[in-house]
Amino acid sequence: MKPDFDPWQAITAAQTSRRNFLVHTSAAVATLPLAACSSNDMTEYDAAAAALRAPMAANPGFAELVRFATLAPNGHNTQPWRFAALPAGARILPDLARRTPVVDPDDHHLFISLGCATENFLIASAAQGRPGAAAFVGSDAGHVDIDLADGRPQASSLYQAITKRQSTRSIYDGQAVSTEKLNLLETAARTEGVTMLILTGRTKLDAILDFVVRGNDTQMDNPHFVDELRNWIRFNPAQALSLRDGLFSKCSGNAAIPSWIGERFFGMVFTKAAEDKKYTAQMHSSAGVAIFIGDKADKDHWVRVGRSFQRFALQATALGIRHAMVNQPVEVPNVRSEFARWLEIGNQRPDLVVRFGYAPPMPMSMRRPSAAVIIKA
Ligand SMILES: Cc1cc2nc3c(=O)[nH]c(=O)nc-3n(C[C@H](O)[C@H](O)[C@H](O)COP(=O)(O)O)c2cc1C
Repeated sequence: MKPDFDPWQAITAAQTSRRNFLVHTSAAVATLPLAACSSNDMTEYDAAAAALRAPMAANPGFAELVRFATLAPNGHNTQPWRFAALPAGARILPDLARRTPVVDPDDHHLFISLGCATENFLIASAAQGRPGAAAFVGSDAGHVDIDLADGRPQASSLYQAITKRQSTRSIYDGQAVSTEKLNLLETAARTEGVTMLILTGRTKLDAILDFVVRGNDTQMDNPHFVDELRNWIRFNPAQALSLRDGLFSKCSGNAAIPSWIGERFFGMVFTKAAEDKKYTAQMHSSAGVAIFIGDKADKDHWVRVGRSFQRFALQATALGIRHAMVNQPVEVPNVRSEFARWLEIGNQRPDLVVRFGYAPPMPMSMRRPSAAVIIKA
C-alpha cells in the first residue's frame, strides 16, 4: 500500500447497502491504489465460476445433478444443504451448521433454499430423462425426498436457464415487463400450497419500498445482524475462491478489496441514509415485485415456496428478465405483520419479496463442489 493512501478517507466517502453492499462504494473503493488490491485478479475466479456452470456431462451421475442443484439461490450463499443418493432418487437435507440464526431464526430462508435446490435437481434430472417428484419429510430437522422414474429427456428452457440465473443486485433500466411475459412468470411459479402476487406501478412499489426501508433500519440497529452479515461477505476473489461460499462483493458490481480493509470498511459505511437511497434507486428502476406466500408457515410450505420461486427465477432468466430479493419486509416480525396487513392476506405469512426488471448481467456467484455436499444416505 502506498504510504500516502488513507483507506479511512476513501471509506468515509463511500455509501453502501446491506447484502448487496458496496454497490455505491465502487467510486470510493476505486480510489484504493492497485497495491492495496493485490488479490483483485479475477482470472481464476472467473474460470471456476464458469466451470461450475459448464454444460451437464454426457451420461451424468449423481454428482452432476448435485452440481446443477447447488446452482440454486440460497440465503447469504451459505449453501445450507447436503445431498444423498437413494436407490431410486435423492435426499436433500439441511446443513444446520450453515444456519444464519440472526436474520433467519426459524430457518425459514434455509428451507426455502432447499426448495430452490430441489427444483433445480428435478428440472436437471427430467432433462436427462429421469423425471421425478419431491416430498418434504418432517422427521428430525426435516428433509426432501425425491423419487425418480424413467422417461424421455425434457430439455426445457428452464433447464437451459439453470446455469445462467443469478441474483442481479444492480439498478435496472426502468423498462416495463409486458403482460404476456408477466403471465409466463405467473404460470411458471404456479405451485400447490403457494400464492404468488405480482405488483407493478409506482404507488405499490413505493409502498413496498417503505417496508424495505423500515425492515432494513431495524436490522441495521442490531449489531448481531451486522456481524452475521459481515461474516458471510467475501471481499476479494481469492477469499471467495478459497471458501467458495458467501456474498462476494463483485457479484454486486463492486471492487475487490483486501479482507482486512473490507471488514473495517463494512462497519463504517453501513449507514441507514446510504441504504435508503440505494433501495429507493433499486425499487424505482424495477419493473415490478413478486411476493411469494405459502398457505401455511411450516417447513413443507417453505420448501414449496422455494420451488415456486425457483421456477419464477428460471422463467425470468429464460425471458431475459433479471431478479433480486429485497426480503427486509419479511425478515423483521413486526414489519412482516404490517406488510401482511397491507397485502390483505389475513393471517398468512409473506415469505419472499423479489424485484424484477431488465439489466446487464453481473459476475456469477461461487459454489462449493458437489463432493463437499454429498453424504451417504
Ligand atoms: C431464501 C433466500 C433469501 C434471500 N434473501 C436475499 C436478500 O434479502 N437480499 C439479497 O440481495 N439476496 C437475497 N438472496 C439471494 C442470495 O444472496 C443469492 O441467491 C446467493 O448469494 C447466491 O447468488 P446467486 O443467486 O446469484 O446464485 C436470498 C436467497 C434466498 C434463497
